Amino acid sequence: MTIRFVTSNEGKVREAREYLTDDVEQIDYDYTEIQSDDLAEIAVAGAKEAFEETGRDDPVLVDDAGLFVDALGGFPGPYSSYAEDTVGVERVWNLVEQEENRRAKFRCVVAYYDGDEARTFEGAVPGRIVAPRGDGGFGYDPIFEHEGATMAEMSTERKNAVSHRGRALAKFADWLAEN
Ligand code: IMP
Repeated sequence: MTIRFVTSNEGKVREAREYLTDDVEQIDYDYTEIQSDDLAEIAVAGAKEAFEETGRDDPVLVDDAGLFVDALGGFPGPYSSYAEDTVGVERVWNLVEQEENRRAKFRCVVAYYDGDEARTFEGAVPGRIVAPRGDGGFGYDPIFEHEGATMAEMSTERKNAVSHRGRALAKFADWLAEN
């Protein structure tokens, strides 16, 4: 089976290919990101729209992720993409730099839709915000440290083994194998 991963982010596709045995095809369709505090709601709406608008043949996968910083009340959370594009990752670090509590988590929801019922799979990883280090990964990876290394200092394989996306994809892969 081919799974169509709807994203313009090649980093996400690279990570999904490491995880899934099925063919993963990248579809660069720009679905509407609805405004919601709930990652699952955003991912499901995107998956349904993409499935309807891109031919309704193979099932689609949409992943919505965000960085949730404790000291900032969960910001940027579901608005992580907007915050990255506007203030940028370095200035998110600057916001947290003054805080004693630098704990944060990455959360990811993967939504799968084949025209029948939408399914969601969630993963999260705890870490802390640090000054940028490393040049791998993408997005907030350089400022997110987990067990001593930032995600930008990890190989794709190592990041997958611990990451929010890896954990969500693992649940999805288990479900796919059973169904
Ligand atoms: P979206 O899920 O593509 O909307 O991503 C939301 C925001 O989180 C974007 O700014 C991404 O760059 C960032 N992001 C998503 N996944 C990751 C990740 O695995 N590492 C670092 N940043 C991420």
